Amino acid sequence: MSEVVYLSGRFLPYGQAAVPVEDRGFLFGDGIYEVFRVYRGRPFRFQDHLERLTRSAREIRLDLPDLDWAAITGELLERNGLKGGDATVYLQVTRGAAAPRTHWFPPPGTPATVLMLARPARPVDPELVESGATAITHPDERWGRCDIKSINLLPNVLAKQRAVEAGAHEALFVRDGVVLEGASSNLFAVLDGRLVTYPRGPRILAGVTRGVVLELARELGIPVVEGPILVSDLDRATELFITSTTAEILPVVRVDGRPIGDGRPGPVTRALYTAFRQQIS
Ligand code: PDD
Repeated sequence: MSEVVYLSGRFLPYGQAAVPVEDRGFLFGDGIYEVFRVYRGRPFRFQDHLERLTRSAREIRLDLPDLDWAAITGELLERNGLKGGDATVYLQVTRGAAAPRTHWFPPPGTPATVLMLARPARPVDPELVESGATAITHPDERWGRCDIKSINLLPNVLAKQRAVEAGAHEALFVRDGVVLEGASSNLFAVLDGRLVTYPRGPRILAGVTRGVVLELARELGIPVVEGPILVSDLDRATELFITSTTAEILPVVRVDGRPIGDGRPGPVTRALYTAFRQQIS
């Protein structure tokens, strides 16, 4: 079956979907996005993703079209033969296309460009979950509103490329000696028996998976602290893991070549991973 995308009100074969050359997403990165998973036909934490999309739109003063996102998602999955299956959905909204190019907003009434893509989910390699991933640290060169899920991802792209070149899975952003989050994930550490993750605010994206993990940790009776993880904490952290829609919960066993704890995924990570799998099954 050929791939079908949703583009601004229409379902189109992949090869026929095109945006105008002056779309502001293309020219300015003037847009927002979401990535969500569908497990066995059911969008996971759909409401959380829609709330974050709405918030991102409000924060960049973009008029989000009033669409039936659930209906569009359902039809997109069906048209791609993914009904009842596992999928990853990409949703992007830009401030639309207008000529001539101006830095300021386009004329009122310029329709937003809405794109949705659904693909079969690529499951995280179970061996990687078993053995653990690796990461590098990288200076955080992003802007001051990392809480907005903006399509402007150049610093994330550059950091991730560094990680790939170093043979690592993720780049961890460091600012003022604090390890904030990954290039496309949130970060958790186990320090002194407590689960630590950076607090919500303008320095990180409030990940939906991060929220799920905090809920699960509380249910499992794991003490939680929303506070900084210092670079110097990495040497004494007993466990480290990243979370994201696509990576789910992924142990990190080495950072910049140095082992975390005993260099293997630890019990807190495993317990959370097991609880997470139960949520999605
Ligand atoms: N990235 N932090 C950053 C910078 C991210 O890009 C992401 C997700 C997360 C985790 O958020 P969530 O749990 O809601 O997926 C944290 C997505 C998956 C991406 O860009 O592909």
